[in-house]
Amino acid sequence: MTPTPTHTRRLRLGAFMRPVSIHTGAWRWPDANFNFTHLKQLIQTLERGRFDAFFMADHLALLNMPEAALKRSHTTTSFDPLTLLPALAAVTEHNGLIATASTTYNEPYHVARKFASLDHISGGRAGWNLVTSANPQEALNFSREEHLEHGERYHRAREFFDVVTGLWDSWADDAFVRDVASGIYFDPARMRRLEHRGEHFQVRGPLNVARPVQGWPVIVQAGASDAGRQIAAETAEVVFTGQRTLADGQAFYADVKGRVAKAGRNPDHLLILPGAFVVVGRTVEEAQAKKAQLDALVHPDSGIASLSVALGTDASGFDLDGPLPEIPESNSSKSGRQKVIDMARRDGLTVRQLAGIVGGNFGTLEFIGTAQTIADQMQQWLEERGSDGFNIMFPYLPQGLDEFVDGVVPELQRRGIFRTEYEGRTLRENLGLPRPPDRFVPPRSPA
Ligand SMILES: Cc1cc2nc3c(=O)[nH]c(=O)nc-3n(C[C@H](O)[C@H](O)[C@H](O)COP(=O)(O)O)c2cc1C
Repeated sequence: MTPTPTHTRRLRLGAFMRPVSIHTGAWRWPDANFNFTHLKQLIQTLERGRFDAFFMADHLALLNMPEAALKRSHTTTSFDPLTLLPALAAVTEHNGLIATASTTYNEPYHVARKFASLDHISGGRAGWNLVTSANPQEALNFSREEHLEHGERYHRAREFFDVVTGLWDSWADDAFVRDVASGIYFDPARMRRLEHRGEHFQVRGPLNVARPVQGWPVIVQAGASDAGRQIAAETAEVVFTGQRTLADGQAFYADVKGRVAKAGRNPDHLLILPGAFVVVGRTVEEAQAKKAQLDALVHPDSGIASLSVALGTDASGFDLDGPLPEIPESNSSKSGRQKVIDMARRDGLTVRQLAGIVGGNFGTLEFIGTAQTIADQMQQWLEERGSDGFNIMFPYLPQGLDEFVDGVVPELQRRGIFRTEYEGRTLRENLGLPRPPDRFVPPRSPA
């Protein structure tokens, strides 16, 4: 038996969990289902596969699509992530629990409370995907006529982060003395009011939840525009991203890690996990056939609508057999728009071809093959600094997840590039991330 080579760098694996899958046709695949029992089984399979985290994406409105496409979309309903993840915490022990919460349509005190509570309930497995909301429809559900401008969204997000992390540090880890004899429950010297007064928020504090088990839940971020990369460099510990090629992945990796160093942080304390759509087959041909079968379940109306969402522009009037016309700047996803334009130009795609790709899995990175060929590609991205791991998007559920956990995971473990056992108790420990010191309250003086 060839000894397992020891690799210093190991893959980190998240699972990108939209209701049934990110693929528009997935709900029409056999056995597709979406209910709590189903989700419980999925996260227990992820834990059996030693995944780092279950990530629940979220939006605060239906996708910005015409009815002709919306009626075909399974993204129309889901569960509120911060209601679902505590329930999943109760049926798991190791899996990280990452939820999206928007900084544009939430208040920091609410977000701080919910993630601190999830971290206590899960024994230190919470993660917050900090997004600014690319979907302009969300504004209409929060008493606004207009979506906040892109730059303004990130400006607000930066202050939002400071307030939430400041609230998480309201109490020292050892503030609660619970001295039954004296009747003192907590030591006032170990509590601090935030007294934050900023451009967007005024928050007195303290938070009425004790300091999270991890100190702070793990901070995740998913924007790739210049503003998105900068806030990631200053605040994030995990970045979900959407590069489609190794070269693009390496360029993004070098840029963001460089910004982290410039921000005075250790680049190893920010992990870059591109989304990867993975279809496993006993042969490459079988995997490609399954992908083609899945893509065939996407109606053309869904394709054009998804392209319009990605571009932030209505594509329904474009010449389907012509090239992509000039696309105006968008106030929704800047990196998403640019990725689609670059793909069209680089591969000389017609609008119809582009809609076919984006309509399925939104034009994300794909690994289609056998356990061996998929492991080869993942190992190359890891070793050639295209990523620190992946946020896996399963084509259909539960089969796509089972095939990955039973086929690809053992191959990655055999190569020594993925864990066989969880390293620690908390998400931070398993990701190899430091626990933030309690920066407000000096350590208790020895009696
Ligand atoms: C893997 C991944 C997951 C994302 N998850 C969410 C999500 O759950 N909710 C959301 O509103 N946006 C989500 N986004 C979108 C980003 O938050 C962001 O709005 C988008 O990437 C555009 O950012 P930019 O304008 O800075 O380029 C996700 C993006 C990626 C790449």
